[in-house]
Amino acid sequence: MNSATAKSTELLSPVWTHLTNLQPARGQGIYLFDEQENRYIDFTSGIGVINTGHCHPRVVAAIKQQADQLLFGQMNCVIPPASVRLAEQLNEVTPPYIDRFFLANSGAEATEGCVKLAKAATGRQNIVVFQGSFHGRTHLAMAMTTSKTVYRHKYQPLPGGIFVAPFPYSYYFGWDEHTTVDFCIKQLDLILHSQTAIDETAAIIIEPILGEGGYVPAPARFLQHLRKVCDDSGILLIIDEVQSGFGRTGQFFCYQHAEVEPDILVMAKGLGSGLPISAIGASKALMEKWTPGTHGGTYGGGSAIASAAASATIETIREEKLVENAAQRGRQLMDGLKKLQVVHPSIGDVRGIGLMVATEFTRENGSPDTDTASKVLKACLDQNLLLLSCGTYKNVIRWIPPLVVTEKQLEEALGIFERALTS
Ligand SMILES: Cc1ncc(COP(=O)(O)O)c(C=O)c1O
Repeated sequence: MNSATAKSTELLSPVWTHLTNLQPARGQGIYLFDEQENRYIDFTSGIGVINTGHCHPRVVAAIKQQADQLLFGQMNCVIPPASVRLAEQLNEVTPPYIDRFFLANSGAEATEGCVKLAKAATGRQNIVVFQGSFHGRTHLAMAMTTSKTVYRHKYQPLPGGIFVAPFPYSYYFGWDEHTTVDFCIKQLDLILHSQTAIDETAAIIIEPILGEGGYVPAPARFLQHLRKVCDDSGILLIIDEVQSGFGRTGQFFCYQHAEVEPDILVMAKGLGSGLPISAIGASKALMEKWTPGTHGGTYGGGSAIASAAASATIETIREEKLVENAAQRGRQLMDGLKKLQVVHPSIGDVRGIGLMVATEFTRENGSPDTDTASKVLKACLDQNLLLLSCGTYKNVIRWIPPLVVTEKQLEEALGIFERALTS
């Protein structure tokens, strides 16, 4: 990476970690440019935010138009038309029974909010999460997050009532998928009989593909089992699509691959193309159990500008067929990475769905190879390809390019990755 740091960063809190010191002057599609017009391929998508690419003209135009008309309408005081329009758009891309939407600003706000909704709707207090989960960094979301100790380190004890079940991560267990799913099904049952009784369990929340936890897709049979457990017990199934939503996996939402439907759907990141916005979707019947006034916030209503950006994002994803592109480019990416795996055995596993793909680095004995993963990542950065790691041991390189990526651009990135592996 050859960018000179444009400005001193000493006034920024050191609590942020930084993949690079790049200070982008502008962004366009899959690229970021520094002040010297050096070009960087951004395959982080701002951690899954820029699904429509940087500064998509349609999103930018919607923001400008909204800014001219109304910057802010506070939801408890007025009803901002941009938020109403967004709810209509969300209604079109979610299952028909999900017909009420709460808007907020971040993923963590939405995951916390949906726990409040689940508690209010069921009168129960406990939540089941999965090993490797990431649901955010506020106190309750931290308690629901088990992807790495760094997210909880020195903050514990955290709010109670959160129970952690194993996630069906076959490669980690070293078992075939069938054995892994059977084990996880049994363990969930055990937890519901030994730690949190059904009549005190409000919800099970799951990422259909673990994000921070290592880009591990949940097998369809497991998600279908969760649906059945919830149907049989009155527990609500919350699907966290904060990272996997909005076309990322080659379906509008990842749960669609498993033909399972959530009671509560959590959305953020790719929804706003970079503007801070999140949403909770649920049925009218559920939302009506949420006592008015018990949840909200100054900006809990989606700012008019973020809502306009989100509506333009949904239109763009649909009209430019970005879901289809994610599926096609995802196949290309997976094929390319699997070919590289054959000649580079340090890549222990290649997995994923659509454009949410993992390369997990392991040693010969199967233990996590964090060192090689970080060297490969650094060698990619040196060639101006931005990739992120994930996984508890940071030994997984995640592939999460903008959904506008073309065949040629993906080839270029794979070429850089190959050179990084060889180096
Ligand atoms: C699946 C998932 N849920 C929730 C969150 C939290 O979102 P935010 O960082 O906007 O609070 C994230 C963030 O990475 C995520 O990946």
